Amino acid sequence: MKLPNLIILDEKDKRLRQKSKNVSFPLSEDEKKLILDMQTYLKMSQIEETREQYDLRAGTGLSAVQLGILKRFFVIVDEYEEGKFRNYIVINPKIKSMSEELIYVGEGEGCLSVNRETEGIVPRYARMTVEAYDIDGNLYTIRVREEISIIFQHEMDHLDGILFVDRIDSKNPFKDANLMREI
Ligand code: NI
Repeated sequence: MKLPNLIILDEKDKRLRQKSKNVSFPLSEDEKKLILDMQTYLKMSQIEETREQYDLRAGTGLSAVQLGILKRFFVIVDEYEEGKFRNYIVINPKIKSMSEELIYVGEGEGCLSVNRETEGIVPRYARMTVEAYDIDGNLYTIRVREEISIIFQHEMDHLDGILFVDRIDSKNPFKDANLMREI
């Protein structure tokens, strides 16, 4: 595998605070290639050998805006079993319903655009139903839960110019932790 040449913006870049625009179909060849490159990048960041070889930070999700492209799509590569990956391509997503139950990542969320230590909890819906388009422009509905639900919300925030650190109460980073379930 060859590492795709992607430059991931750092949180100081103002483009990360902008709202991305809906994508129109059919996708261009460049857009399709970008999606595949984003998947390859994430996969290589998760495989120990290539992560070390290229000095990468491990990432599970990546939004187009993190590459400076203000379009509403993201990819997720989830290693659900050792060496087995599930790919999600999510274009123009909309939340159709969400659980009342809130959860948060106990060890804190991370982001390939946030290159510093952070602490605090980010409240997220435990489950959601999301409608989105696939790479061929087909509308689909997906039910996500737990970690994948959190990643979807993290990436959907990127499409609206929001970083996870914006959702942490800086004066009280562990506020209301007792009202949510840690995962
Ligand atoms: Ni992120």
